[in-house]
Amino acid sequence: MIDKRLLASMPETKRYIVFNIIGQWIALLANVVMMFMIARSIVKLMIADLDLSELAIIVGIIFISLIIKLGASAFSMKMSFKTTEIIKFGFREKIFKKLFVLKDRYQNVLSSSEVTQITSEGVDQLENYFGNYIPQFFYAIIAPLTLFLIILPLDMKVAIVLFICVPLIPITIIIIQRWAKRLLGKYWDEYSKMGDSFLEDLQGLTTLKLYEADSYKQKEMDEQAESFRKITMKVLSMQLNSITIMDIVAYGGAAIGMIMALFSFKSGDIDLTSALFIILISADFFLPMRLLGSFFHIAMNGMAASDKMFKLFDIKEPKKDGDIKEEDGDIRIEDLSFAYGERYVLKDIDITIKDRALVAIVGPSGSGKSTIAKLLLARSDDYEGTIEFKGEDLKKIASNRIRDLITYVPSDAHIFKGTVRYNLKMGDKEVSEERMHEVLKQVELDEYFKELNGLDTKINEGGKDLSGGQRQRLAIARALIKDSPIYIFDEATSNIDVESEKTIMDTILKLKGQKTIVLISHRLANVVEADMIYCLKDGKIIGSGTHKELLKEKGLYHELYTSQMYYEGFMKGALDETII
Ligand SMILES: Nc1ncnc2c1ncn2[C@@H]1O[C@H](COP(=O)(O)OP(=O)(O)OP(=O)(O)O)[C@@H](O)[C@H]1O
Ligand SMILES: [Mg+2]
Repeated sequence: MIDKRLLASMPETKRYIVFNIIGQWIALLANVVMMFMIARSIVKLMIADLDLSELAIIVGIIFISLIIKLGASAFSMKMSFKTTEIIKFGFREKIFKKLFVLKDRYQNVLSSSEVTQITSEGVDQLENYFGNYIPQFFYAIIAPLTLFLIILPLDMKVAIVLFICVPLIPITIIIIQRWAKRLLGKYWDEYSKMGDSFLEDLQGLTTLKLYEADSYKQKEMDEQAESFRKITMKVLSMQLNSITIMDIVAYGGAAIGMIMALFSFKSGDIDLTSALFIILISADFFLPMRLLGSFFHIAMNGMAASDKMFKLFDIKEPKKDGDIKEEDGDIRIEDLSFAYGERYVLKDIDITIKDRALVAIVGPSGSGKSTIAKLLLARSDDYEGTIEFKGEDLKKIASNRIRDLITYVPSDAHIFKGTVRYNLKMGDKEVSEERMHEVLKQVELDEYFKELNGLDTKINEGGKDLSGGQRQRLAIARALIKDSPIYIFDEATSNIDVESEKTIMDTILKLKGQKTIVLISHRLANVVEADMIYCLKDGKIIGSGTHKELLKEKGLYHELYTSQMYYEGFMKGALDETII
């Protein structure tokens, strides 16, 4: 019922949890004194044997006990708030720190919506787990024990019977827990599933509309929402039923104690004051356990959420020790194999990328080109073989150094909302105005932005107000500003207009000899000038050499190149004909 790992994960809360329990215990003792005094005053009043001064003392003690009880309860509550505060900030900070180190590595283990849920509701549940459940768990053991020791000298039989009845509540809790754990696991799964599809549908709304698939998706989401509703209702009814069962056990137990105390009084074993006191206090035997029971679903939710959180915390972080000695781009990939799950997508890859060389990787779609880029960027450590940067194992290089060394430009590089300057400065915060204009000229955007508002031209979310080609050219400009020794262009010119493609290719080729460049491209015309071309198929290298050497080999490269040339020539011919 207590998750040791979870408890140990926030040692800062220990103090406050202990204070919380002490506060509740003092409140219990004050209550005992108060009840005893009430019982005593009733008996005295009944036999009219109470003088004024005695009454004043009793009322005074009751009053003081009441104040101590309220004060101690308020103190406990404050300690509970303190605990939740630590949990709220502590866990969120831990999660964000982990995500910051992991970057997108978490995606292999958890989906984005799961991470969002852990960070929001998950942490809220844990707040309750630490702030309410854990203190109550210990208090629910201490309270009956204390009362047992107090009642024992008054009436041993009643004390023993009450004490034996208390564990009935945790036994019912354990029985319910077995069933609840599965149910709550399912509840979280359904919740994540719904969150996932909601996020995806929202992101893909334009596409859904285009394909008129929105109504179909709506139906799918309706179904998911319905099954989530059902499981939520099940969880709620489970919670309600378990509370009813616990109430029956708790109040039933208290009733047994009361009846027994009356019988003891009747047979003359105890006096009336003791009998009344036991009647007044017997419910207190069970109430802490009963409250623990009602916190129980919180604990279950918290533990289910923490399972996912620990999954995140357990993801291996990239190692931080080691560094590379020289800032150049010699890269050696040896015997590299990589699998997504069971499926190998790269097999025994050997690639050497000489310092300041332009190396191209080509091959059909799905052959593993982007996966090589991903591994070079150290987004995963789970590969076989070695990747070395200037003789240094990539796995040992700190991730921020890798980011300094390599600039990766994908086909859909993200442009941020803000200004042109804001986007360019992402490459280098200290970049000068001249340099910004220079790179914009290089990608032929300077004139365009000049007509607007220059470097202060506003850019919308995702660069929506730019054309695809402009967007990509701006991304290239930003990459140039970063001025790293290694560049990886992964289909940097796909899906854009011919002019933009030419500008980008010219820019890339201008870097030749100055930077180490890995150029991934479908279009073979773009790699003709590469110093070395690796031809990839089904995760294997099936040819390597310069453009001329590969053409001579008459292998896949030759086949792809000639068919692309034929196709492009044909298109050009067709265009020419229409012009004529
Ligand atoms: N996150 C992933 N999980 C599982 N499989 C993946 C993942 N990413 C890629 N793959 C698979 O790995 C293989 C290689 O993918 P990769 O993206 O490297 O190909 P590619 O050569 O870059 O293709 P393209 O030219 O279309 O960009 C493909 O079969 C793909 O289905
Ligand atoms: Mg790719």
